[in-house]
Order: sequence, then structure tokens, then C-alpha cells
Amino acid sequence: MSTKLTVKSAAGDYPVSVGFNIVDEALKTYFDNSSAPACFLFVDENVWKHHQPKLKQIFDEIGLPYRSFIIPEGEKSKSIKQWQVAVNFLLKNGVRRNTPLVAVGGGITGDLSGFAASSALRGIPLIHVPTTVLAMVDSSIGGKTGINHETGKNLIGAFYQPEMVVADTQFLQTLPRKEWINGLSEILKYGAISNSDIFEMSELFFEEDLRQVDQQELIKLIELCMGVKVDIVQKDEFEGGVRAFLNFGHTFAHALEKAADFDQISHGEAVFLGMLAAIDLSNRVGFSIDDRSIRTFRPLYNFGVSSDSLNRDRLIEYMKSDKKMVNEHIRFILLKGWQHPVLRTVKDETQIADSWLAALKEL
Ligand code: GLY
Repeated sequence: MSTKLTVKSAAGDYPVSVGFNIVDEALKTYFDNSSAPACFLFVDENVWKHHQPKLKQIFDEIGLPYRSFIIPEGEKSKSIKQWQVAVNFLLKNGVRRNTPLVAVGGGITGDLSGFAASSALRGIPLIHVPTTVLAMVDSSIGGKTGINHETGKNLIGAFYQPEMVVADTQFLQTLPRKEWINGLSEILKYGAISNSDIFEMSELFFEEDLRQVDQQELIKLIELCMGVKVDIVQKDEFEGGVRAFLNFGHTFAHALEKAADFDQISHGEAVFLGMLAAIDLSNRVGFSIDDRSIRTFRPLYNFGVSSDSLNRDRLIEYMKSDKKMVNEHIRFILLKGWQHPVLRTVKDETQIADSWLAALKEL
């Protein structure tokens, strides 16, 4: 089973597909129809450990010269230093304007590789092969690429659309449970902002061994989420309006990640808590949201950080260094109702602090 969507973007349309065991054919077809002289394979170190023989076989069969660049796991790879190493690798290995970069990995690999592809020679073709749930449903689609800066997350980057996104669920067979749950948060986000069916369909995440989940149901869920994302980024490619809804929970989450030094809490865990905080804040500003649809999934999360170990006093300050400030006030995506996100500037910092307290009780 495999399904294909098309994303329309200013830089051109590109296909997004999801299925089981589809990556070989998708890449071979792409390269059969391209005049690429060579290619670069940028791959996450864990994916490389598990799938090196398969990836080598695919690229050997494509028959073009290729060089592989391994990206260390962890948010620390989204750094200026690692971006420099990546671009250096491309330039010192003869990259040309028509040499594609194939990024195989999760969100960190995709964001770093995408930014390297956007900046080397002012842009080389980029193909995303997302290997985590999070990257499949969210980060590989829509062209956001970037790295972190000491003042905050994703503060350096570019909108740079790929030529193709191929999500092969076979890669999820070697994905640790924690990473599946990391991706679940972005799935629940789509449930909150766009389609309530997603909550029920996400119950498959309660399966004890996630490698055993029904592939058809999983692919259907991923495709549905991809569809929401495609729809939103087509309406607002450069985040002047509705694309900001995809940041539901993220203003809290980014500050939490920073307070936890980017390594004690994963992005997805932070987004889960961020969504609870955003729902709490929605209620404080006068909306009325019952958080049960999301809270049901709370038992699946195993937060490895205690709230005492976080720099809690700095959380609001960190939010202010995120990109979502207007006239010194923080802007949030809140819920006016389920599947009714709204953009709100909240001036009363006591309300924000109280919502933080409510969310941090979960730790
Ligand atoms: N991950 C949010 C966006 O792509 O806009």
C-alpha cells in the first residue's frame, strides 16, 4: 500500500508519498529521470547503523558516484558548527548545482541537511527520506530547514522546498519506542487543530510493541496527517497566516527544550506538554476546552526530566526570544474550540506563568 500527495509551492510542485518498502523504487525512478552527475547521502547515525546495507545497495544500483555524510544523533547536530562541517563536506567533495542531496533520517537530519542544501552553491536539489514518525508527518513537508542558535531554536534557516518526500514505514521498524511517541505529539497536534478523527486513529500507539502495528492503519494515519500539513503549507507557504497554526504547543515547547538544555527532553515530549499548557492558557483567556482528547495519551509519555531540574524562572524569557513576539508580547496559538485554532497575543504574563505551572505538574 502506498499513497501519493502533491505539494504546490512557489519553487515548484513536489510529490510526498508514504508506504511500506517504497524507498528503493522512488529513488531509482527519481534518478532515472534526472541528469544528476552524482549525489550526496546525508544520513542519521542510527539509521546508518541499522540500514547501511540496504542504503548502499540502493545507491549502488542507482549507479552514480555518491558520498555519505553521517549526522550524529541529537539536537546538538542542529548547530552552526555542524552546518559548517556539512557544507564543507559538500564543497570539498565537488558538489555541483545539479548534485542532489538525499537526507535520510528524522527531523534533525532533515533540518540540518535541508539548510546545507539551501545554502551550498545557493541551493542544490534536496530529497527527504524521513525515517521517524515526526519527520514523516511534519518536518519533511513544507520546506522549513534550519539550525539552532544559542539564543533559541530554529533561529537560523531558510524555506527550501525538497524535490520529493518519500516516507517508507519500513524504517519505523528500527525506531525506538521513545521516538514513536515523540512523533505522536505532532500527530495529536493535527487532531487538535484540524481533524478529530486523528485522536481515535492514534489509539494504535497504545500497542505494546509498535513494530507490530497494522501497517495499513499506520499508513492511513500518516497520510491523513500529511494531508493536513500539505493543505496548510499550500495555503501559506511562508507562514504569513494559517501556517502558524502548526505551531500549536510549540511556543511553550521551544522554551521548555531550551530550559532543558536541548537534551533532557525531546521535541515531541515538549510539544505534548506545550499543548497541555496552550489548552490551559486557552481556558484562562476565556475559551472553554476540555483537554481529555489529548490527555488520554499522557500514559504513553515517560518524561525523563524533573521540573526542579529546569530553569523555570527563565521559561517566559525564553519564550520571548522565540520568533513569535509582537511588540514585546508573546503570541500563542490557542484553541477557541477543538479544531479551531486562533492566534492570540497574551499580555498578562501571570496567565502564562500559571499555564506553565499547570503543565510542569506533569513532570
Ligand atoms: N513544523 C511546523 C511547520 O512546518 O510550519
